[in-house]
Amino acid sequence: MKKLMVRKSKGLNGEIEVPGDKSISHRALIFSSLADGNSRILNFLFGQDCLSTMNCLKKLGVKIEVSNNIVYVEGRGLRGFLEPDDFLDAGNSGTTVRILLGVLAGQEGLFSIITGDNSLKKRPMKRVVHPLSQMGANILGRKEGDFLPLAIKGKKLMGIEYEMPIASAQVKSCLLLAGLLAEGETKIIEPSLSRNHTELIFEYLNLPLKRNGMELKTHGIEGFSPKDFCIPGDFSSASFIIAGALIIPNSKVILKNVGLNSTRTGMLEILKNCGAKIYILKEEYWGKEKVGDILVETSELTEFIVEGDIVPRLIDEIPILSIIATQAKGRSYFRNVEELRVKESDRICGILENIRKMGGKGEETKDGFYIEGPTPLKGAEIGTFFDHRLAMSFIIAGLISEGETIVERESIDISFPNFLEVLKNIGGELFGL
Ligand code: S3P
Repeated sequence: MKKLMVRKSKGLNGEIEVPGDKSISHRALIFSSLADGNSRILNFLFGQDCLSTMNCLKKLGVKIEVSNNIVYVEGRGLRGFLEPDDFLDAGNSGTTVRILLGVLAGQEGLFSIITGDNSLKKRPMKRVVHPLSQMGANILGRKEGDFLPLAIKGKKLMGIEYEMPIASAQVKSCLLLAGLLAEGETKIIEPSLSRNHTELIFEYLNLPLKRNGMELKTHGIEGFSPKDFCIPGDFSSASFIIAGALIIPNSKVILKNVGLNSTRTGMLEILKNCGAKIYILKEEYWGKEKVGDILVETSELTEFIVEGDIVPRLIDEIPILSIIATQAKGRSYFRNVEELRVKESDRICGILENIRKMGGKGEETKDGFYIEGPTPLKGAEIGTFFDHRLAMSFIIAGLISEGETIVERESIDISFPNFLEVLKNIGGELFGL
């Protein structure tokens, strides 16, 4: 395991750009592969998760080439995937499995087996297998289809009405794609709004979609025309740098071309209400997605509460928000965050265990946890459980800690491959790169 040593920083300063959005990169690849014709993807995220999606699609017969960082995709049409001659490997990526399942289930006659790494094999798949089975899908796996590897025999799907028990963009996207392949209408009801990139791509590509409050409707189609994609910077990747600039004294950072889709930026709303100096300098649209520049300065912060409908809009930012909470005055609460137990690792455990190791204070509650602040942190050896968001959060924590913090660094490649270079260039004290 490659390790990194982190020391206290004297301040983060400069202008940076974060890589393309992970969620949108997966989706752009999948939709381009299903289109009737060729398209290009600009500012694609070449992180391990999106490369897993790319490899699965290649095994399904899609021609994908990369030249000068542009991805060229030859779409095979909505029902044109070829039977793979080996397992599809989703690596560490839940999005790859869950969204692709919606497509594989509807490829009539096509047999495939999808698996992943040790973390992904422990993550629940019933949330998509269950509604897909109601649509007529034939999917088999351990514990009644809850765990990878899953074997899929593509069938003609039927539209259903499905009330989702949890707010999940992966489940929603899986069912919307299955709905395009199915006969008749598919109606999905979300408990609260999760990231809406799939809906925006439906709109961008003129695919059938109607939203009425929390209800979404689509229906089966024959095919659709391709369009090029230009992917905004990933707000979730930006969140680590934003947090660093807020809590490290003498910092001022500008982040360029970051995705500002409001279903992703719940963290900005929380932070603005507790004293953060964060300013949006420019806003524009890339396709249907809002993009802008963000200015962040060191700030005195007070406690905050994360709960209810905002949770899906900042779900991936909770590890870094918990580091911010160690420096905010008062007790910050994270409620209704049970989903953190089934992310790349059990993030509630990972957050609390490591914060305590660093001298911070926090406790589990029935549906989440709380953190006390402000607390000076001290260096420690961090346990990341190969979870990229834990690794990056605790590297930021290391930058405000006395002494040395040691963090496993390989998992960072999952979502933000040049994180360490970007951070070092603006004042991160990182050793052993
Ligand atoms: C994602 C949705 C979220 C998020 C994940 C990416 C997506 O998961 O945590 O990192 O691209 O749809 P859930 O849909 O399971 O909440």
